[in-house]
Amino acid sequence: MSGSTDSQRMEKIVSLCKRRGFIFQSSEIYGGLNGAWDYGPLGVELKRNLKNYWWRVMVHERDDVVGMDGAILTHPEVLKASGHVEGFSDPMIDCRTCKSHLRTDQLVEKKGVKQCPNCGGKDLTEARQFNLMFETHVGAAAEESSIAYLRPETAQSIFVQFKNILEVSRKKLPFGIAQIGKAFRNEINPRNFTFRSREFEQMELEYFCRAEEGMKWLDYWLEERLKFYENIGIPRKRLHAREVPDEERAFYSKGTYDIEYDFPFGGQELEGVAYRTDYDLLQHQKASGKSLEYFDDETKQRFIPHVVEPSAGVDRTILALICDAYAEDQAPNDKGEMESRIVLRFHPRIAPVKCAVFPLLKNNEPLVAKAKEIVAHLRPHMTVFYDESGAIGRRYRRQDEIGTPFGVTIDFETLGEKDPTLRDTVTLRDRDSMRQQRVAIQDLPAILKERIR
Ligand code: GAP
Repeated sequence: MSGSTDSQRMEKIVSLCKRRGFIFQSSEIYGGLNGAWDYGPLGVELKRNLKNYWWRVMVHERDDVVGMDGAILTHPEVLKASGHVEGFSDPMIDCRTCKSHLRTDQLVEKKGVKQCPNCGGKDLTEARQFNLMFETHVGAAAEESSIAYLRPETAQSIFVQFKNILEVSRKKLPFGIAQIGKAFRNEINPRNFTFRSREFEQMELEYFCRAEEGMKWLDYWLEERLKFYENIGIPRKRLHAREVPDEERAFYSKGTYDIEYDFPFGGQELEGVAYRTDYDLLQHQKASGKSLEYFDDETKQRFIPHVVEPSAGVDRTILALICDAYAEDQAPNDKGEMESRIVLRFHPRIAPVKCAVFPLLKNNEPLVAKAKEIVAHLRPHMTVFYDESGAIGRRYRRQDEIGTPFGVTIDFETLGEKDPTLRDTVTLRDRDSMRQQRVAIQDLPAILKERIR
């Protein structure tokens, strides 16, 4: 972790997320469920745009990657073989003074003495291992033989289905299997808004290759993934590729990078890019007794492929997108006086609403009819929001606050009342520069589609 913290900025972001319907505390009316979050109308659009773009560049635009969607309920043998049942745990300590449960790395040290970060108490228990997996029971009887787990990562179903997918897709090495889906971890201390949750989503690729090419693909995927974040609007200067040192790396990994982002609460991991060698497939082959080997037609050799894994968090990326987009600046109101505005400068590609459409006046029937016609014209291509209430400046402000990149205003010139040459043109306003240009209605879909793709 690196970088400075800005708790005030974080508070404003959390409050905006609730106020405008991006993210709510789960089960809020019952006091909330710690570590679980619900995405509201705008949050769900943002999330879908992110996941769709990831799927587009990681699967659809490539010849060497196919997708899958595995079950969340996982057979215990899968997670025994992967090492999760034995070792997927964090060291935990209890504070006897305030009764909080803490990860050992959360303790603060003052004058060489470890203290509870919540109450300053020094009466702490010994550290013990706490397994992070959620256990459940499949079927009516809750007994040892019916135990199943909610998956702690999506990756294992990819390894377990490796042979089936290899056969049906007829891919040759190197090739990848991608998956987006929920994962569950009973984190000791969920915190920093959605950053560390107990239920979250991952976007994972397992890219299978020959052993001698593992390090090459590790470098390749690190660069691809950094480009991905830039393409959704997160500048490289706020991203850091941290090479994970030997002592912190999983014992089977030959190289791992954490891609970190400068959140307001400090530099923290967004994604891991790990060269996992042949560890997972080998473990599952051993435990299941089924061959997970790859047959090379040319050399006639059979072997277990190695794997490089870029594994990103959907919720952490959403949080980074919101944190990065949040800005406060000055904009003119309806009287031309400057006032402060909150704006989310989302890249148009991931903005939840792409275009807002405003008739200049709500009680003018021809203006309203034209505006609704434009909404219908744009809707097949993008998410559009129609708003006729309040002064135009206030309507802009409401859209700025949710990050809508474009605003279209229908005025009397659109109706050709002032200048017949301007009939069927509208003003197109850009959220960031606030510049307005006059464009023909018939050109609008093409102009906007080009910018939001
Ligand atoms: N298959 C590899 C794997 O799961 P990880 O580093 O444990 O690796 C990958 O997780 C990504 O999943 C992280 O970089 C993060 O974005 C996300 N993630 C992990 N734990 C999370 C949590 N408790 N809350 C939100 N996101 C989490």
